[in-house]
Amino acid sequence: MIVKKASASDKDKVLEFCQKTFSWGDYISNVWDYWMKEGDLLTIHEKGSPIAICHASFNKEGKQVWIEGIRVNPLFRRRGYASLLIRKAENLARQNDCTTAYMLIASSNVKSINLARKLNYKKYENWNFYSLIPKKIDQKQKIKFVNYEEKLPSVLFPSNFFFVKSWRWLPLDDFSMSSLIKEKRIIYFGNDNNIEGLAILTDSEHFNDTILITIIFGSINGLKEILSYVQNFGHQEKYKRIQILTKLKYLPENENLEYQFSFYLMKQKI
Ligand SMILES: CC(C)(COP(=O)(O)OP(=O)(O)OC[C@H]1O[C@@H](n2cnc3c(N)ncnc32)[C@H](O)[C@@H]1OP(=O)(O)O)[C@@H](O)C(=O)NCCC(=O)NCCS
Repeated sequence: MIVKKASASDKDKVLEFCQKTFSWGDYISNVWDYWMKEGDLLTIHEKGSPIAICHASFNKEGKQVWIEGIRVNPLFRRRGYASLLIRKAENLARQNDCTTAYMLIASSNVKSINLARKLNYKKYENWNFYSLIPKKIDQKQKIKFVNYEEKLPSVLFPSNFFFVKSWRWLPLDDFSMSSLIKEKRIIYFGNDNNIEGLAILTDSEHFNDTILITIIFGSINGLKEILSYVQNFGHQEKYKRIQILTKLKYLPENENLEYQFSFYLMKQKI
């Protein structure tokens, strides 16, 4: 069975078998055109029709590949196609000098966890996903942006930390940090001597009107301030959805905050 790059004519047939992948549907129709533009959207065909896909996104600075959107037509499952696609993505990643592969799997998705385990991926981190409804908050916002002049001490950023951009986990290294600071995307609560909360805001490239917030750490008070800032900012900027990703086990109670799922960030050296 040959793995090849997807072509425009594959789209309709793939979207047809990706309508009801999960209880809530699927997001492949939202990302197909972006992934085609980015390249490395891989497919397997049977009798001329695409029956399985996955996308590989290489981060050359971080030397990592992000493997996403693994989908196999339900009529063709359990024949090794997902494994074949992942192995192909890893091979391409090696050719692009990547040394680590990551993928994100919902903690309830047992078959995908088995698949990843079989291919030697390990559970690396647990992440929680919350949604927050944008809302006008009538209180003075005490949040500040990290800027170049008062760059926060690096000790505040635990090493090997990730932030989420377009549902990809990217390393928070000097390279990404400097562009996030330039774009005013890192917010904090507190002062230089006592930082009580830190978060990163990114727009979703694939979903309209959606902002993604990675919450890195915070005291209860700091987290409340961050949530209230983000809620008001979301309202002001007319976002429809605020999606929050965090490794923290709990966020403070907020009537507009709803826990959605948890995910495993799976990792393998390649
Ligand atoms: C998960 C999915 C991609 C697997 O595709 P597949 O082509 O059937 O997978 P493979 O044949 O390569 O299976 C490899 C291993 O995965 C595990 N696995 C696959 N399907 C499984 C199932 N239904 N139950 C338990 N384990 C399963 C097994 O360990 C399997 O090895 P085995 O067949 O030797 O036991 C496919 O079921 C799918 O498209 N699911 C919906 C979308 C999805 O969840 N994508 C992943 C999001 S991270």
